[in-house]
Amino acid sequence: MDAMKVAVFSTKSYDREFLSRANVSWGHDLTFFEARLKESTASLAAGFGAVCVFVNDVLDAPVIKKLAALGVRMVSLRCAGFNNVDLCQAYHSGLRVGRVPAYSPHGVAEHAVALMMALNRRLVRASNRVREGNFSLEGLEGFEIFGKTIGVLGTGKIGECFARILLGFGARVIAFDPYENPGLKAAGVEYLPLPEVIAKSDIISLHLPLTPDTRHLIDARAIEQMKKGVMLINTSRGALVDTSAVIEGLKSGRIGALALDVYEEEGDLFFQDLSNSAIQDDVFARLLTFPNVLITGHQAFFTDTALLNIAETALGNIAAFEKGSLDPKNEVSCDHIDKQRNCGRPCGRPAGSSRS
Ligand code: NAI
Repeated sequence: MDAMKVAVFSTKSYDREFLSRANVSWGHDLTFFEARLKESTASLAAGFGAVCVFVNDVLDAPVIKKLAALGVRMVSLRCAGFNNVDLCQAYHSGLRVGRVPAYSPHGVAEHAVALMMALNRRLVRASNRVREGNFSLEGLEGFEIFGKTIGVLGTGKIGECFARILLGFGARVIAFDPYENPGLKAAGVEYLPLPEVIAKSDIISLHLPLTPDTRHLIDARAIEQMKKGVMLINTSRGALVDTSAVIEGLKSGRIGALALDVYEEEGDLFFQDLSNSAIQDDVFARLLTFPNVLITGHQAFFTDTALLNIAETALGNIAAFEKGSLDPKNEVSCDHIDKQRNCGRPCGRPAGSSRS
């Protein structure tokens, strides 16, 4: 069999390094493009059997249709989230979609904790001061995590890791997830209805997927119910949070601290060096003005372990697709979404039907 020709979009030096290394054993014919996949760049995929894409590549209906017309048969995501793919259109266009369901749940959870601690103990400000020879402690006061109530929304792979780390701090961990995790309950996590988790937590951390149901889960109404001075951490997907409402919450003091690794409109900002340009996004620019806001540019996943796992699984999914044996755990389809009641659009396929 000829090597599968794969167009790899949104590639950075680290993607090329880890994918090339992993590909020694898979033997695909990889072509790396720096460009993001979107309607205007989709024609780059002409002549390729598969595209390999990342979180901010756009695979909406027009792009999927274009890819299918160009002969692409598979989309291999280098990430866990798949909110950027129109799965119904992929089904109707005959494209299979693979993802990397778990490449580093520990890495993302540890980054959420790093953000929480850096924000709480004002490490960025403290470090900048010390560098300038300013050893004053004014304004650097933090609080202890021990004994605090931490609300975890979504206790899947990453939420579970995060909850377990926080139990280790001696915090009370409360959680909301439609599917309770018995192991976490046994470890001491208390499941409560969403409004109670929102109202009782000193720190709220988001670890749930972005779907039509969870979009703007944290809106003005939810923020109003939160404890005064709550710390909000989002390492999941930007649009889980209504950014304008969060800005109002920061201005009123309802939100005492905000840590973000993701942002609603990150597609035009993150993963690029824009240090010599003016930021065009006024909402994002406003966020940067608050002393109690800490933002990283979607780097929670960015560990050596994760990059290796991503490369192995993304390329392995392509090989499995070629053999007609894409692992159902790694495949995302309209079916998969229907089961979670997130689709909202009829895909025309009976639930549970197999495509292979
Ligand atoms: P997962 O699929 O293992 O867990 C998600 C959990 O959320 C599930 O237990 C599910 O039942 C729950 N859930 C679904 N709807 C919910 C709702 N309305 N309220 C509460 N819980 C709900 O996913 P995993 O691996 O833990 O990842 C979570 C999210 O983290 C991903 O969807 C992705 O968006 C994000 N992520 C961010 C990364 C980063 O670098 N910042 C890297 C990897 C993932």
